[in-house]
Amino acid sequence: MSRSILSVLLAIAATSKLALAQPDPADPTPLVDKTYAYPSGIPYQVDYNTAALRGPQVGYNICNSTTENQSSMCQTSMVNHIDDFCLWAPPIPNSTIGDTEQLEVAWCTKPGHGTRLIPNGALQGVQYLRTSQYIQIAGFIDQTQVNMNALDYGGELDPHGADLRGNPLGGLMYSNVFPSNGGNNNSYQQVIDWTNFMGGSSFCMTICDPASSSANQSAYCQNIYDRMGCSYNMPNNAQNGTFEVCDSDLKIPAGLYVAGGVTMTYTQPNSGVVNPPYTAVTPASSNCVTYASTALYAGLATVTPTSVAASGSSATGTAKASSGTSKASSTGAATATQSGGAVALGVSTLAGVTGTLFAMIFLS
Ligand SMILES: *[C@@H]1O[C@H](CO)[C@@H](O)[C@H](O)[C@H]1NC(C)=O
Ligand SMILES: *[C@@H]1O[C@H](CO)[C@@H](O)[C@H](O)[C@H]1NC(C)=O
Ligand SMILES: *[C@@H]1O[C@H](CO)[C@@H](O)[C@H](O)[C@H]1NC(C)=O
Ligand SMILES: *[C@@H]1O[C@H](CO)[C@@H](O)[C@H](O)[C@H]1NC(C)=O
Ligand SMILES: *[C@@H]1O[C@H](CO)[C@@H](O)[C@H](O)[C@H]1NC(C)=O
Ligand SMILES: *[C@@H]1O[C@H](CO)[C@@H](O)[C@H](O)[C@H]1NC(C)=O
Repeated sequence: MSRSILSVLLAIAATSKLALAQPDPADPTPLVDKTYAYPSGIPYQVDYNTAALRGPQVGYNICNSTTENQSSMCQTSMVNHIDDFCLWAPPIPNSTIGDTEQLEVAWCTKPGHGTRLIPNGALQGVQYLRTSQYIQIAGFIDQTQVNMNALDYGGELDPHGADLRGNPLGGLMYSNVFPSNGGNNNSYQQVIDWTNFMGGSSFCMTICDPASSSANQSAYCQNIYDRMGCSYNMPNNAQNGTFEVCDSDLKIPAGLYVAGGVTMTYTQPNSGVVNPPYTAVTPASSNCVTYASTALYAGLATVTPTSVAASGSSATGTAKASSGTSKASSTGAATATQSGGAVALGVSTLAGVTGTLFAMIFLS
């Protein structure tokens, strides 16, 4: 796509945010405006006012060797390389994301961040994409091993929410990976905008480069398409069983599509069926390098699940792993988006029946 079309798309994305959020009078500063230098500037809790409507955050932000075990309540996430990232997941076994979104804690692939660790083998495939504006990590997970109900289609975690205090409340994120950090693994920048879908035996996460424009960060780390899952927010060709790092083109920001040469914006309805009139295009990727998970996650070798929900009757059968074609291209897009579209209808119906706001569309 040409640069001029992309800049129009970005401008539209930046202005299409819905003004639904209402700051909590007890804690009116949006989480995205709470910035702290790592590590010395980070307070014990960034969201501590007990008068706030959803209460204060359940965990803490100063995380170190004393807080590092499988009951850690650390809510400071690190997202670096494919061997070193954290996902948000519940502190309580057998939870759904919809019921616990404000409580989630950091579960990481590497010791040293003061957090819980993702049990060995729970990550079943991970695709890590580098772009000029963000990092995207998508993959497959035995979600019961990170305290999720086996059948949970999940939902979106992001630093916004209806009261702008974030889900989880007070959740911070840092990274050493962006060029503006000078390639120094020992120096961390706060990631201002990010989004992480968990559910349906899958996950996906985008972390936006804090050095980019705020319009770009808003566009690529959209948070208003929370019922449209990974296949619309982060169209990808991650494959179950494969662990890879690739360069990638930029995605078209969620909700935008071109029909008959005209750029259109799809607005997700607040309730009822989510049925976007388009399929999201998976951006082209290249220079993929694959790794053995045992080499990437050696630090997890002895980490076992502490309380595994029975996973025998999980919903994994419905998820569609993409067929094992070329890893270095976006050719899986057709299959991926078709299955995503089909699943969207089913998920939306389910969401309507259960009354949950959270629906997850499977990865490709
Ligand atoms: C370690 O983290 C805990 C919990 O946040 C905090 O109370 C304690 O002061 C920290 N210890 C050090 C040495 O920073
Ligand atoms: C985890 O660490 C905390 C803080 O040091 C401690 O209170 C707790 O007992 C530990 N839990 C486990 C399961 O080791
Ligand atoms: C930073 O860490 C990653 C793996 O986590 C490694 O591949 C890379 O070489 C490191 N960079 C430097 C400059 O040490
Ligand atoms: C924002 O993204 C556009 C589209 O990729 C890019 O051309 C532009 O340089 C980005 N802006 C910044 C400040 O990085
Ligand atoms: C998890 O929760 C569901 C519904 O709340 C329940 O039916 C199931 O038995 C629970 N599983 C475990 C292993 O506790
Ligand atoms: C991914 O692969 C694992 C191991 O083969 C399997 O148990 C799991 O069901 C697969 N996940 C999905 C979503 O297909």
